[in-house]
Amino acid sequence: MQQKIIILDFGSQTTQLIGRRVRELNTYCEIVPYNKFPESDNSVIGVILSGSPFSVYDEKAFKVDVNALRAKGLPILGICYGAQLMAWENGGNVESAPSREYGRARLDMVQESNPLLANIEKGAQVWMSHGDTITSLPAGFNIVASTAEVPVAAYQIEGERTWGVQFHPEVYHSECGMQLLRNFVVDVCGSKCDWSAESFIDSTVRELRSQLGDDKVVLGLSGGVDSTVAAVLLNKAIGKNLTCIFVDHGMLRKNEFTDVMKAYEGLGLNVIGVDASAEFFAELAGVTDPERKRKIIGKGFIDVFDREAHKVSDVKWLAQGTIYPDCIESLSITGTVIKSHHNVGGLPEKMNLKLCEPLRLLFKDEVRAVGRALGIPDRLIKRHPFPGPGLAVRILGDITPEKVAILQEADNIFIEGLREWDLYDKVWQAGAILLPVQSVGVMGDERTYERAVALRAVTSTDAMTADWAHLPYEFLAKVSNEIINKVRGVNRVCYDISSKPPATIEWE
Ligand code: XMP
Repeated sequence: MQQKIIILDFGSQTTQLIGRRVRELNTYCEIVPYNKFPESDNSVIGVILSGSPFSVYDEKAFKVDVNALRAKGLPILGICYGAQLMAWENGGNVESAPSREYGRARLDMVQESNPLLANIEKGAQVWMSHGDTITSLPAGFNIVASTAEVPVAAYQIEGERTWGVQFHPEVYHSECGMQLLRNFVVDVCGSKCDWSAESFIDSTVRELRSQLGDDKVVLGLSGGVDSTVAAVLLNKAIGKNLTCIFVDHGMLRKNEFTDVMKAYEGLGLNVIGVDASAEFFAELAGVTDPERKRKIIGKGFIDVFDREAHKVSDVKWLAQGTIYPDCIESLSITGTVIKSHHNVGGLPEKMNLKLCEPLRLLFKDEVRAVGRALGIPDRLIKRHPFPGPGLAVRILGDITPEKVAILQEADNIFIEGLREWDLYDKVWQAGAILLPVQSVGVMGDERTYERAVALRAVTSTDAMTADWAHLPYEFLAKVSNEIINKVRGVNRVCYDISSKPPATIEWE
């Protein structure tokens, strides 16, 4: 049986990061809402309580009976709010700190003999981010680490394998964080560290074979990492019973449709390529509202896909490359939808097919590792994320085939430039945006009045937050020159230096 750590999510922004850190320890974990501990699952080897945007005193605060959890005898690690909740429910005192404590701190007392703190030394850097702090502990709760500002930086409950830490071991700036998590997951919980890309492939192929039997499956390919890895995994499990459909809505990158089709064929996939660009351009004519563009493309995609999929006789399943961050139920506890990203949300309902999502338990970096282990070439694995509606959300205002052609050329110069300068893998994603403004320029002796293109490149780990990539000036100068010289209709190039938040990665 696959051992697992359960992470109870109290709504913190770093809950997913805890999950990723545990997986980096080759240990399987699941993130569940704070009140949904899987009672009858006996493969659980330990529990982590996440932080929370709330204080224990907030009316809306998420509460569970932590003592009932303790009674199970499993190792428990409470992080920030998780630590405060355990202390508070047992009569400890939690108070709001005079000012929110945020940033680096150093442990100035560490009980090194404590199993949670093995190999962590006095002076180790930790990351604090909290409004409340524990000012007194219940009887039987013993301080095992402190910082200058926070006496109760970590505690253990006497006679139990239960700890609370006020800092965030999961964030990169906590230098000793990974050591602490390793101490907990491996030494205290006894993880065998046997979760790997290869073990995932073996068990998933077995499960897919028994789940799908001789049934026929269709899958929509997008050229992106997730759908590609899902397709190759399914192909390994059920071979010819998988039919992949790749729809060209006309707003892909330059040559993307033919390049990606070739790559798919090279991987032995059975792919039907559908050029539906004329239909999409007709539907989008004159539409300027970003959300409407998305909806039109989403619906158009569903219609085309549905039509093509039903040409495959006797199909029973729809497979999708949904990944873990797409499905963590608890993310919606406090999340707000800024843009509607679920391009094909209505597909399973409309098609009346059963849903198969073989990657639903993986984080993005694990999807890549699985892809590599399946022999998918790096060029496909390392592709930047690209939005489902494609260049439609990078052309501000209405969309025409001419505008798409201009943007494809500019984008291509930018992206190929990143590859040549060895910068492609250093940014999370990049692309060009066609702006709805014209400006005056001069070319030769001619006055021009043409379009402006913005370049966007960001660094990120999960697209939730992002910083603009600090690309070298020489590179930007070269790309700007090349775009203005080669792309007819563009006489000005700008570089977007906004971070997310408050900006988003895409312009629409
Ligand atoms: P934003 O613009 O919200 O983007 O910062 C975050 C990430 O999501 C991608 N994105 C989309 N992906 N359909 C998609 O499949 C969409 O409608 C969509 N909009 C944004 C974006 O490229 C970035 O990686």
